[in-house]
Amino acid sequence: MKKILFANWKMNPTTEQEAVKLARAGDVKNAVLIPPFPFLNAVKNVLKSASVGAQDVFYEEKGAFTGEVSPQMLKKLGVQYVVVGHSERRRLGENDEMIAKKVKAGIHAGLKVILCVGEPLSVYKKGKKATEEFIKKQFRFIKDKKNLIVAYEPIWAVGTGKNADPEDVARVVQFIKNIASVPVLYGGSTNSKNAKSFLEKKEIAGLLVGGASINVKEFQKMIKIAERF
Ligand code: PGA
Repeated sequence: MKKILFANWKMNPTTEQEAVKLARAGDVKNAVLIPPFPFLNAVKNVLKSASVGAQDVFYEEKGAFTGEVSPQMLKKLGVQYVVVGHSERRRLGENDEMIAKKVKAGIHAGLKVILCVGEPLSVYKKGKKATEEFIKKQFRFIKDKKNLIVAYEPIWAVGTGKNADPEDVARVVQFIKNIASVPVLYGGSTNSKNAKSFLEKKEIAGLLVGGASINVKEFQKMIKIAERF
């Protein structure tokens, strides 16, 4: 199977026009573009080859949940993937129990769910065992595995420019595969310079790319690299 690049645009770009431009530039079969909610429809409508994903979802179908978006709404819009439990959302207060509900609701609505896990710097510094224990705990409420993808994103490497060691990543990814038996991505300051070192690891199914995914030249270079695997 080809290795896939998931482009997490986060709260970027600022206009629909720019979003459409980015979408056209990343429209290849082995890419999943993940724009902010207001641009989902416009992005989906211009894509010919890439898939589209959302950055979050709620676990109820409808009702009095101001500000939330249901999995069914995303599905009806033609969204195929959804990111759940990103560290930037966990930082805002999402916990493992809530995240598990989102995973379940997303899968039941027919979406492919990308569950983000990963340790903070304080845990990383304690060593391998501590990291593994931390990650194992993040799975304690996860029951649904069908259509689940996991993204291993060490928090200290996300948006920091700090590179994790591909060997260490491959080991943690294998640890996750032993827990969940699902494809596992890596994410955390990936770019055209380090993409190969992660993609060449057989354990890693693809990359969840943040910053580099909103830089057209960078992302197109990464697409070329990913196509070789
Ligand atoms: P980054 O983000 O590539 O900018 O580190 C990755 C992510 O948050 O998914």
